[in-house]
Amino acid sequence: MAEFTLPKNSKIQPGKTVSAAAGAKRARKVVIYRWDPDTGENPRLDTFEIDLDKCGPMVLDAILYIKNELDPTVTLRRSCREGICGSCAMNIDGTNTLACTTATESIKGDVKIYPLPHMPVQKDLVPDLTHFFAQYASVQPWLKTDTAPPDRERLQSKDDRAKLDGLYECILCACCSTSCPSYWWNSDRYLGPAALLQAYRWLADSRDEATGERLDNLEDPFRLYRCHTIMNCARTCPKGLNPAKAIAEIKKMMVSRTL
Ligand code: SF4
Ligand code: SF4
Ligand code: FES
Repeated sequence: MAEFTLPKNSKIQPGKTVSAAAGAKRARKVVIYRWDPDTGENPRLDTFEIDLDKCGPMVLDAILYIKNELDPTVTLRRSCREGICGSCAMNIDGTNTLACTTATESIKGDVKIYPLPHMPVQKDLVPDLTHFFAQYASVQPWLKTDTAPPDRERLQSKDDRAKLDGLYECILCACCSTSCPSYWWNSDRYLGPAALLQAYRWLADSRDEATGERLDNLEDPFRLYRCHTIMNCARTCPKGLNPAKAIAEIKKMMVSRTL
């Protein structure tokens, strides 16, 4: 039987433990994945015991408390702290989600935090999203038209505008793509649920005039057809979107144009 083992330098080691200050009434352990490419050391899991009375209610508040008060080298991305920028996406308690909209109290036991899975890590909780955003750019996420621009804006009926609901809200956090097994194994060629939801957002836009060109760009055994409807994407999306449905709609458009 084949045996698979991780290379020595990627095995996760136990890290340090920082205990809560004496007198903490609501002590909670937060376990954070740490890796610094500059040290040449293996990744490790550091445990920080914090008093929840000393920080805000969300996991992002807990991490920032740790960074500000206990270890300034903890590295993460975040910006809006309102579930809008998508930058604080990470794996919390086994689920890809946003740290700023996840309440620490909603997690049972220790709060375990890793970077988004199956992505190269730049440091600690920061994944390298270069390829992810290059794939997003490849679907040309902007309005494409051939007709002359009208005097004022290109109008859209209320019904046509409603077709963009469930699509335009995507914040490109990458939670869905990094939870998709097809994307884990084929991300070099499969676009993944986030980029495909964005592709459909423009295919569904009544003002866009590049439908044929957009479908041609997706007609490929890998770019689109690696989705096997496993549905992890819809389950994990912190904005409640359904990329699998958008992918199914693109597949329907592919079929209808051949009929
Ligand atoms: S579809 Fe949801 S999970 Fe995927 S990138 Fe957009 S907001 Fe994030
Ligand atoms: S439904 Fe498709 S895109 Fe979503 S997780 Fe499954 S394979 Fe990936
Ligand atoms: S900090 Fe912007 S989505 Fe969490």
